[in-house]
Amino acid sequence: MQEIRKYVSDNKQRFLDELFELLRFPSVSADPKFKEDVLKTAEFVAEKLKAAGADKVEICPTAGYPIVYGEKTIDKSLPTVLVYGHYDVQPADPLELWKTPPFEPTIRDEKIYARGACDDKGQFYMHVKAFELMMETNTLPCNIKFMIEGEEEVGSANLGIFVAENKERLKADVVLISDTSMISLEHPSLETGLRGLSYVEVEVTGPNRDLHSGVYGGAVANPATILAKLIASMHDENNHITIPGFYDKVIELSAKEREDLNKAPFEENEYKQDLEIGELWGEKGYTTLERTGTRPTLEVNGIWGGYIGEGAKTVLPSKAFAKISMRLVPDQNSYEITRLFQTHFESIAPKSVKVKVSPHHGGEPVVTPTDSIAYKAAQKAISQAFGKEPIPTRGGGSIPIVALFEKELGIKTVLMGFGLDSDNLHSPNEKFDIANFYKGIETIPLFHRYFAELSR
Ligand code: BES
Ligand code: MN
Ligand code: MN
Repeated sequence: MQEIRKYVSDNKQRFLDELFELLRFPSVSADPKFKEDVLKTAEFVAEKLKAAGADKVEICPTAGYPIVYGEKTIDKSLPTVLVYGHYDVQPADPLELWKTPPFEPTIRDEKIYARGACDDKGQFYMHVKAFELMMETNTLPCNIKFMIEGEEEVGSANLGIFVAENKERLKADVVLISDTSMISLEHPSLETGLRGLSYVEVEVTGPNRDLHSGVYGGAVANPATILAKLIASMHDENNHITIPGFYDKVIELSAKEREDLNKAPFEENEYKQDLEIGELWGEKGYTTLERTGTRPTLEVNGIWGGYIGEGAKTVLPSKAFAKISMRLVPDQNSYEITRLFQTHFESIAPKSVKVKVSPHHGGEPVVTPTDSIAYKAAQKAISQAFGKEPIPTRGGGSIPIVALFEKELGIKTVLMGFGLDSDNLHSPNEKFDIANFYKGIETIPLFHRYFAELSR
């Protein structure tokens, strides 16, 4: 531990400078305008992996953005850890809400502000630096493989293909990912589950063209009003989702599991104050931690139609749209849920409109084991680095590839995230606490040490 702390402390500034370099690439995978930048980011990652001591570093092309691979095999008889992360980021919009530009990382109040600071550049880069540390101090205790992709934020479609085609190369005993949150530095935690995702776009068409809202208004159904009603009808008075069959496969937690989950520290007042909301909302009969970690949800991500420009235009629009996502929990299946949504949405639409449902990407939910050697290694590493046992929690977000690692490679995952829920992921002013960055770099070598030790 002494040696680890010394290496981190001796290289503090350089680690941060390198992360800043990485954060300056606007690697937005959703927007083709940034294509060259995304490709340059992959090159940067490959260079840094090589410099840290990885062999067989390769920028593996896919039908979309490339996957950066690298490995260090020290002894075939030792266990292997596969580190996964993503170098792509979400779009930075709305730009005007950033206090400092999203791709010019800035430190305020001991926090790094930039798009990707936490999700996931700041987090996967901790692994690159921890690997450098283990190489430089001759303490790498097991084999390690890196797979850093560039399409996580758009659904990882090509990674699925890469994984299926590279089963031998990706052989490992555990997948280690830092792309989730912990409660706080005072209350370190380990996420033991991720929700799945089913994402659809709906289009509601009324009359065949936009109409004068005075001439036709009152006689023709307004698709925007209809869409609002259809969406509103999808939650009942208890905030249960009304899609028939939606909950059929949901595994209810045992009383003990619920009790354990609710032991995690949670300050409802702080939560409300941080978001400046008067009260919380959610499915009746469940606590906030249960609602975000263990229950499926339906959200409108965007809704539009008609005139949304400057000033006022009197118009009865021909069309209205919404992007709707559903977070899923075991044993729901994203394809099945998308189908249920589509059938239901079509069945509740009145004859005055036509509706179209187009599926986007999805992903399956997972629960990770807490009795495995790898989980115990993570517990031990965190306990030592933080001086406190980690609390198990269920994460509300999704990393669709985790379920695929299980299915395709038969490998379970440890979610050792160092971000905070309040890091503004996908939102303006995304940040990552500098302290969390360094703490992560200190904790990761301990994970490898204990994983190797406990595997013996
Ligand atoms: N790192 C997040 C997922 C996450 C964040 C999990 C915080 C747990 C806690 C990941 O980059 C992400 O944003 N995933 C997307 C899904 C993807 C298919 C676009 C998500 O959860 O919306
Ligand atoms: Mn992420
Ligand atoms: Mn993300």
